[in-house]
This record gives sequence, C-alpha cells and structure tokens, in this order.
Amino acid sequence: AGRERWKKGGEARGKETRSDVAHALRGRRWLNLQEYQSKKLMQESGVAVQRFYVADTASEALEAAKRLNAKEIVLKAQILAGGRGKGVFDSGLKGGVHLTKDPAVVGELANKMLGFNLTTKQTPKEGVKVKTVMVAEALDITRETYFAILMDRSCNGPVMVGSPQGGMDIEEVAASSPELIFKEVIDIFEGVRDDQALRMAANLGFNGPLQRQAADQIKRLYDLFLKVDATQVEVNPLGETPEGQVVCFDAKINFDDNAEFRQKAVFAMDDMTESDPTETEAAKWDLKYIGLDGNIACFVNGAGLAMATCDIIDLHGGKPANFLDLGGGVKERQVYEAFKLLTADPKVEAILVNIFGGIVNCAIIANGITKACRELELKVPLVVRLEGENVHTYSSSWSLLTLTQYKMCVAPSEAWTIDLHLACVEKHLTLVRIS
Ligand SMILES: *[C@@H]1O[C@H](CO)[C@@H](O)[C@H](O)[C@H]1NC(C)=O
Repeated sequence: AGRERWKKGGEARGKETRSDVAHALRGRRWLNLQEYQSKKLMQESGVAVQRFYVADTASEALEAAKRLNAKEIVLKAQILAGGRGKGVFDSGLKGGVHLTKDPAVVGELANKMLGFNLTTKQTPKEGVKVKTVMVAEALDITRETYFAILMDRSCNGPVMVGSPQGGMDIEEVAASSPELIFKEVIDIFEGVRDDQALRMAANLGFNGPLQRQAADQIKRLYDLFLKVDATQVEVNPLGETPEGQVVCFDAKINFDDNAEFRQKAVFAMDDMTESDPTETEAAKWDLKYIGLDGNIACFVNGAGLAMATCDIIDLHGGKPANFLDLGGGVKERQVYEAFKLLTADPKVEAILVNIFGGIVNCAIIANGITKACRELELKVPLVVRLEGENVHTYSSSWSLLTLTQYKMCVAPSEAWTIDLHLACVEKHLTLVRIS
C-alpha cells in the first residue's frame, strides 16, 4: 500500500518536482509577488481590480481608508504565505484579513498588524513580520469564475483556460466535471482574437453586456501576460458584482525567469526576507536545499545527478521530500550539517545518499555520515550509494558500529537501485547489507 501511495503521488507531481529541482539547482527561487504588487501590475494593464492603497504605517492605513470612501473596506496583511485569513498575529490580533465599514477601525487594526508577526499554516512557527498592509474597497461577488492564461507544451504556446465554476480548486473541477473546463489556443502572431475572447466569456457564463466586459478583461490579461513575460496568469475568481462589473478578485502571476534581464522592475520586487528558513540555513553551509512534499530525503552532489536521482525515484513510484546538493570542496562538517537539515523535516521517512566522488572525496562523505549517524541518532533508514575517488577506502573508514547500530543499507554502485531504498522503508529493515 505504501508503494501505491508513492506511485500516485509520483505520477501527479513528477513533472512539477523535476522542474522545481532543476530550477532550484540553478540557484534560483521562483519570483513570488505580494498581492498588492500583482494587483498593481494588473492595474497598469487596464485589468479591473478593486480600488486599493498600500500602507506601511497605521496612520497611512487610516488615511487610505478615508480616501477610499468605500461602502465597505477590506484590510489585508501582505505576506507571501497563504492562509492569512485564519492566521494569528503576535500582537494578539486574530486574522490577517478584516472587513469593516469604519475607516477608524482600519487604523486600529493596522496598528495591531504592522510590525507584528503573522503566523499561518504556511509560515514558520515564529511567523512572518508584516511590513505592509493593503487597504481595498470590498466588493460583493454574485458569481465566481476561473480564468487563466498559461504556457502549454502540447499547444507549443499560450492557451486560455476557463471555467464557470470559479472560486475553488480548479484541479477538482477538472476531475469531477471536465465538461466545465474550456480551452482556447492563442496564436502568438494574432494574439487573442475578439471571437475567441467573446466565446470564452460566454463559456464562463457572462451574459448580455457583461460578456463584452469579460472579453475585454480577457484581452487585457493577455496584454499583461505578454508585457511581463509571464508563464502563467491565473485569476481565481474572475467575478461579477451586483453592480454589473467584471472584476479580477485574486490573481497569481508566474514569471519566466529567463526574461529577468528585461523585466528588471518586476524582479526588483522580489522580497528575499520571506524565504524558506531551511534554504537560508543551507546557504550558510554552502549547500543548496530545496524542499518538496514527498518522504524520501535526497543527498546528492551536482545538479545533473540530482535530476537523475529525482527521475529514478519518480520512475520507481517514490517522491522526494527534499534535495540537498553538496557542492565541490566538501568538508565533513558540511555533511553533518546536511544531515541535520535533512532529518529536521518531519516528512522524511528515509534518506537516500547518491554521491559521485569526482571532485568530492568519498572518505570525507563516509566520515561525515558516520559522525551524523552517531550524533544525530538517526532514526530513519539510510541508503548510501558512493562512487568515485577513494570509494575503496570508504568501507574501512565506515565503522561497523554505525552499520549495526543504525538502519542502514549500503549499496555498491553496480548493485545500486532505488528498489533497495524502497525495500528499506517498507520493510522497516534495520540493516540491509549488499556486498
Ligand atoms: C518575526 O518574524 C521574523 C521573520 O520575518 C523572525 O526573524 C523573527 O524572529 C520573528 N519574531 C518573533 C518575535 O517571533
């Protein structure tokens, strides 16, 4: 059953995992914009969003709320992590999103948000410091639809995807009612044609004058897609208000980082302070770390071997929990710190070490692992594949103590296969030795 579970996960996520790993190993992280930054970009392309202001202090927030002169106001803490609505501030305030009709209340609430840490399901335990809030006009939504423009390999270019079933997880809609998903392939020379935009608007369920409005929004979203070199612009929901307006209520924009050189203004908005603490810790030891959502921790050297390891795990129905790439000039201490990082992740049920000692000396790795096993009292099975320089001496530097005391499986390269690793996990083997 365990294997089945991996298999399912592997199939659904394989591709994404591979590109995530490739991306991280090139030393990059995805550019992720704050909500107000995305909305600003949308506004600049004429996309209809709620009127809003951004504030860094409570008095600015109060002023903004007055200036909005709206029937109802929504105040939102700006952090990248999701789950803001149900988050808690260390000022005691509950909820990173508040609705009110009174500008004075906006000032009071902002006072308990700005400069305080907001903890949500997606942030570290100590939360993330809120430096900015968004003060926006709250609008009622009578109907929610889903609309996205994304790069699609099978169409060799951008494609529009829409569904009248918005406001929820689109993957669920695609699975339960595929007939409610509509696609239009965009010709990159022609752009979005008027008949395509109108047909999509109609498929989304916009009728009468709203159809024209929605079609115009669709065209403007495509303008934005081109202008910022996006790989995906996802609007969920693209909604309808009781006043008969089509509004983009929330959007996620992904950017092509190959275009960074000509999108300097966009990439300058990147807020590094909210990056993953494990990545930061790894960087301190000159290690590259990428967190994924499987259960097999991977310790590798070099981007190519990492990609190959990822593919092999995927092929055998496994799912990596993370990747740690050891650089070139490795020290024992780094190996130890790497294990500390890998085992700190509670999702990890086994560790796979796949090291090719070219520049790296296998003896250093072996000694580092031995030290880590002893001092960290490794609880999960460990599979090690070492090949390359000094590989014949590593077995002697590897103390018998480690092998017998910890759940460990050492596989010489010629016999090495991921199945060993899976066997280790499934059978809870305390020791498997292949020689
Ligand atoms: C608040 O969050 C920041 C990260 O944004 C963190 O460094 C800091 O330790 C946190 N402060 C408290 C009091 O938890």
